Amino acid sequence: MPIRVRCWRPNRSRTRRRRGPNAPVVMSADNLKVWFPIKRGLLRSTVGHIKAVDGVSLAVRKGETLGVVGESGSGKTTLGLALLRLISSDGPIVFLGSSIQGLRFKDMLPFRRDMQIVFQDPFGALSPRMSVGDIVAEGLSVHQTSLSYEERDTRVVKALRDVGLDPETRFRYPHEFSGGQRQRISIARAVVLEPNFVVLDEPTSALDMLFQAQMVDLLRELQRKRDLTYMFISHDLRVVASLASHLIVMRHGKVVEEGPARGAVQESEERLHPRAVRRRVQSRSSRPAWSRSSRGRAGLATFERRLSARRGRAPAAACAAALPPVAGLLPPCAAPVTKLPAI
Ligand SMILES: Nc1ncnc2c1ncn2[C@@H]1O[C@H](COP(=O)(O)OP(=O)(O)OP(=O)(O)O)[C@@H](O)[C@H]1O
Ligand SMILES: [Mg+2]
Repeated sequence: MPIRVRCWRPNRSRTRRRRGPNAPVVMSADNLKVWFPIKRGLLRSTVGHIKAVDGVSLAVRKGETLGVVGESGSGKTTLGLALLRLISSDGPIVFLGSSIQGLRFKDMLPFRRDMQIVFQDPFGALSPRMSVGDIVAEGLSVHQTSLSYEERDTRVVKALRDVGLDPETRFRYPHEFSGGQRQRISIARAVVLEPNFVVLDEPTSALDMLFQAQMVDLLRELQRKRDLTYMFISHDLRVVASLASHLIVMRHGKVVEEGPARGAVQESEERLHPRAVRRRVQSRSSRPAWSRSSRGRAGLATFERRLSARRGRAPAAACAAALPPVAGLLPPCAAPVTKLPAI
């Protein structure tokens, strides 16, 4: 008689809203390894290994964001894929209290809904033959088969609204969107299932500075609203530190440093550019007295306001109120976009 393995599903109501150092661990791994074989010769014999992930141990708590930084090829994506059991690995992985290492495809299914990934390349991750609505609803049709068409559509509309896209976009196709909008579609696809744990693999790397900031705000807002736990991968320490509570730094598949994200940017700056930081500190202390007094600063603010008025710039808040969202897809701009006449 075949033995049936019953997978435990977490009690969502009990795991909600407990944060901080005593919050339950959502995802943990101990001495995790992913070694890819290097094959050579006619018989394709293994002559060595690429140690993409080599003995990584970590734990991510509920509501926390674990930032993963490291140079290109250091094993960040491979680590994310291994934790979600999308590639095979060696070493225990515990998700929401259950060991998931070695589970068969069928036994992994109940956990899949609770763990999602936003891939590094949003265009490659979205099927060009499917409409945005079908892409976002795909997970629902696999994991929540009992939903009616209307219920599924309501969930898709809500997910698209949550990521700042007009719900009418669900009838369009991925090639009709910009990189940033495609990344939002990928995020909508991940959050529509109301997961516990989301791996965000460089969701901001293809975006310019303004959209990077908007994306970080969006992710923070989603985390707050939907009580998500993130693993945020990037090679930009500043972007990671703005969202993460804890950081690990990877190099050649190993964790070479870890600690709280607060202050990490300043510390790394000090280590990399000690002279520049010293100069900045000196220039701050040698600032003129007027700039240190509140009256002086108020004067400077008035001057800047007049200058931007002469340049034809509207203050950011006024601009956001005046401009409609771009084709109803994006939230109003946070920075002036009016054309600047020369002064
Ligand atoms: N399927 C694979 N087969 C063989 N080697 C692989 C495979 N996938 C990744 N690697 C190797 O594993 C190492 C880590 O790759 P990974 O994609 O995890 O790096 P990364 O830190 O995400 O880099 P990037 O910042 O450029 O995305 C690289 O040396 C890569 O060549
Ligand atoms: Mg990568």
